[in-house]
Amino acid sequence: MALPAEGEKDIVTIEGRRLRLRPIGPDDDDALIDMARRSTPDDLRLRFFSAVRPEPGPLVSSLTHYDHDRQRAAGAYDPALPRGAGELLGVVRLHWEPDLSRGECAIIVRSDFKSHGLGHCLMAEMLGWAVDLGLARVDGDVLPENSAMLRMVRSCGGVILPRGPDLHTVRVTFDPPRRI
Ligand SMILES: CC(C)(COP(=O)(O)OP(=O)(O)OC[C@H]1O[C@@H](n2cnc3c(N)ncnc32)[C@H](O)[C@@H]1OP(=O)(O)O)[C@@H](O)C(=O)NCCC(=O)NCCS
Repeated sequence: MALPAEGEKDIVTIEGRRLRLRPIGPDDDDALIDMARRSTPDDLRLRFFSAVRPEPGPLVSSLTHYDHDRQRAAGAYDPALPRGAGELLGVVRLHWEPDLSRGECAIIVRSDFKSHGLGHCLMAEMLGWAVDLGLARVDGDVLPENSAMLRMVRSCGGVILPRGPDLHTVRVTFDPPRRI
């Protein structure tokens, strides 16, 4: 198996599966759409807070073309699978205020790959970025019925606040973010 390319990193899930993280970039529209097509409409709704179609368009472009001075995103893949880096299993994203006062995170694991520990790996990676950047805290908005995400936030050391900036979400926060 080839060694990780520059900017990539090997990870091992709690089940011992060896995966690799790579940055998400401008050529990833197709890979993100493929991951979304292999996810359930409900998982997409939990990630984006409304029904989204897994097809080319402004949403996908915004996820691949972003300001790298204020945002970072990484996708996980299995280098042993035939399509390797082209087949994304999950993506985590962090964007932050220029004054480093706070960041905001979002995450999705492909529906057929959930509950194998990848979500925890991606959260750990994202919290490591926050520590390296020196962010004072990391927030996230989560739909209140998203019990899997709320459990994962708690198990990663985050807290759940009663209400997000609107009435449809709860706010989760890592204050201050710590490596896990
Ligand atoms: C929320 C989400 C990212 C979790 O990803 P996941 O890969 O299924 O999560 P994990 O496999 O790491 O964790 C799930 C289980 O594995 C266990 N686990 C795995 N790794 C673990 C670790 N390192 N430490 C502790 N527990 C771990 C947990 O006990 C957990 O069990 P639980 O569900 O009974 O609490 C995923 O469900 C998802 O993509 N949902 C749709 C999108 C979404 O909701 N995004 C969040 C809003 S931005």
